[in-house]
Amino acid sequence: MNLDFTQIVPYIPFMLEGIWVTLRFVIIAIIIGFILGAVIALVKISDAKYLKWLADFYTSVFRGTPLILQLMLVYYGVPQLLGYDIPEFLAAILTFGLNSSAYVSEIIRAGIQAVDKGQKEAAQALGIPYRQTMVKVILPQAMKNILPALMNEFITLTKESAIVSVINYLDLMRRASVVGADIYRNFEPYLFVGLIYYGMVMILTLLGKLLERRLSQSD
Ligand code: ARG
Repeated sequence: MNLDFTQIVPYIPFMLEGIWVTLRFVIIAIIIGFILGAVIALVKISDAKYLKWLADFYTSVFRGTPLILQLMLVYYGVPQLLGYDIPEFLAAILTFGLNSSAYVSEIIRAGIQAVDKGQKEAAQALGIPYRQTMVKVILPQAMKNILPALMNEFITLTKESAIVSVINYLDLMRRASVVGADIYRNFEPYLFVGLIYYGMVMILTLLGKLLERRLSQSD
């Protein structure tokens, strides 16, 4: 068997740095996705007919095309159409943020609509205004559906983030390729970052479980 892990040892710090590079852009993307996704979700549950149609169209486009294609369109489209180069980092957070917002908008919409209708009716019967009903009655209950699903979205983005290696962003995945090209062995560096991805996902999964337990305490 041809395996030699000693050769990747000098590159370990270089690869470990990739953890933060990856996490940093995933965190920013999830924040963008959440804010935009929340706005789109509010449009979806509103009565604005055309805006609703637009929100649905937006969601179906971003969920109906490959993420890697969206990344390419942004990365190559901006210089070609607008005339200036877009840094890899910006292309990455923009694409992932937009893509995630489509998924998050559905998570939030479904989470809100899953709250029993009687809750809203009771609030109305008591004469509580819409805004207050939303903030004090519906949203706190919807959070229980939304937060665990958001955690899943975080995990998905962490794994999908490896896609940015195709635009040369020096994330965890890309670093494994760089090391592989340097030492003429690819299996070891890829296996190494594979373990790191797995570790990151396990930690996030654990956090998600803790969160879920916390949220179900009041049941
Ligand atoms: N592999 C899927 C794609 O290329 C992932 C989409 C991103 N998923 C997400 N929950 N943001 O379309």
